[in-house]
Amino acid sequence: MKRILVTGGAGFIGSHFIKYQFKNYPNLHIVNLDKLTYAGNPDNLMDIDASRYTFIQGDIADAGAVATAMEGCDAVVNFAAETHVDRSILGAAQFIDTDVRGVYNIVETARKMGTRRVLLVSTDEVYGSIDVGSFKESDPINPRNPYSASKAGGEFIGRAYFHTFQVPVVITRGSNTYGSHQYPEKVLPLFVTNAIDHQPLPLYEGGEHNVRDWLYVVDHCGGIDCALRRGTPGEIYNVSGGNERENIMLTRRILQLTGRGEDLIKRVPDRPGHDRRYSIDSSKLRALGWAPKMDWDEGIALTIQWYKDNEWWWRKIKTGEYLEYYRKQYEDRRPLGNA
Ligand code: NAD
Ligand code: TYD
Repeated sequence: MKRILVTGGAGFIGSHFIKYQFKNYPNLHIVNLDKLTYAGNPDNLMDIDASRYTFIQGDIADAGAVATAMEGCDAVVNFAAETHVDRSILGAAQFIDTDVRGVYNIVETARKMGTRRVLLVSTDEVYGSIDVGSFKESDPINPRNPYSASKAGGEFIGRAYFHTFQVPVVITRGSNTYGSHQYPEKVLPLFVTNAIDHQPLPLYEGGEHNVRDWLYVVDHCGGIDCALRRGTPGEIYNVSGGNERENIMLTRRILQLTGRGEDLIKRVPDRPGHDRRYSIDSSKLRALGWAPKMDWDEGIALTIQWYKDNEWWWRKIKTGEYLEYYRKQYEDRRPLGNA
């Protein structure tokens, strides 16, 4: 592969993926098509080698923009998405436009252009919640919030294009991802940056029941890269970190590593439709040679240190639109009492 289109490359995982590709494939050129929504941030790509990189500001829901960006590319890796469950509960329309219509534009353009690989980055949330055990790729999916439903919609379009038109679509379903440069609406950077500022950590229902499986961002990029280069068209690959933690355990670790007390925990009413536990089995991807490398204790310490060292990055974000969203999302969530 000589030229890859990455969509949504100015976001959290997409920007890490671009850096991962540059580090591992010295002759590769990357085109990044990104709308620069509230979550897209050019600061994430400040040190990129400009001679191997083309940036196009555009919307994947715009077929013309997708066609221009895909011209001459051997492969496309789609990260572009609306990604936050709480925002999808406040309003789902943009999720349908990007996560479904946008994916349709990508696979339809790939069909017309004969693109050699289409990697759709999806999520373990499409499976829905599981009380015991772990989902395999062959299990039926059961998305239960507007975000995961829109991601599942994009997946189904991709799978249909493989079966009907033989577009070489590969899908990855990653688990909750953590690391530097994550927009501080997701629980980990939200709680870390709030803790640094001595602000409350709004923990839904006290966090005792909900479990997420944490995957270090560079390991997630390695998993996507493995599926892109070694995966079989038409197949789906789970990418799991193997670090299941109850939200309360994650919160306590954040407080320890930021040197704050448990008095900052604010137990608030639950997210509507909150999935209790996500768990996936990634032995199919491991059989292709991938394995997560980052140890949880080291990964979380490194990540929190990054937010401590890079206040310039997130303080700019926590203004304007962010504060408006924060008020809408949290001001009516009255505390339930101490966790
Ligand atoms: P993010 O919200 O940090 O970034 C999304 C990026 O997509 C931003 O740069 C944004 O500007 C861009 N974008 C949004 N709508 C667009 C559009 N219509 N056209 C072009 N660009 C657009 O997201 P992330 O956390 O980096 O997630 C990337 C992908 O990985 C998503 O597809 C997400 O569903 C998936 N995923 C994320 C996680 C996670 O824990 N963050 C886990 C599994 C899968
Ligand atoms: P989040 O980071 O939004 O990821 P996802 O919903 O995609 O898993 O949330 C992770 C977990 O943290 C989830 O169980 C909801 C919980 N959570 C809180 O308790 N408080 C918060 O303010 C947020 C954003 C999430």
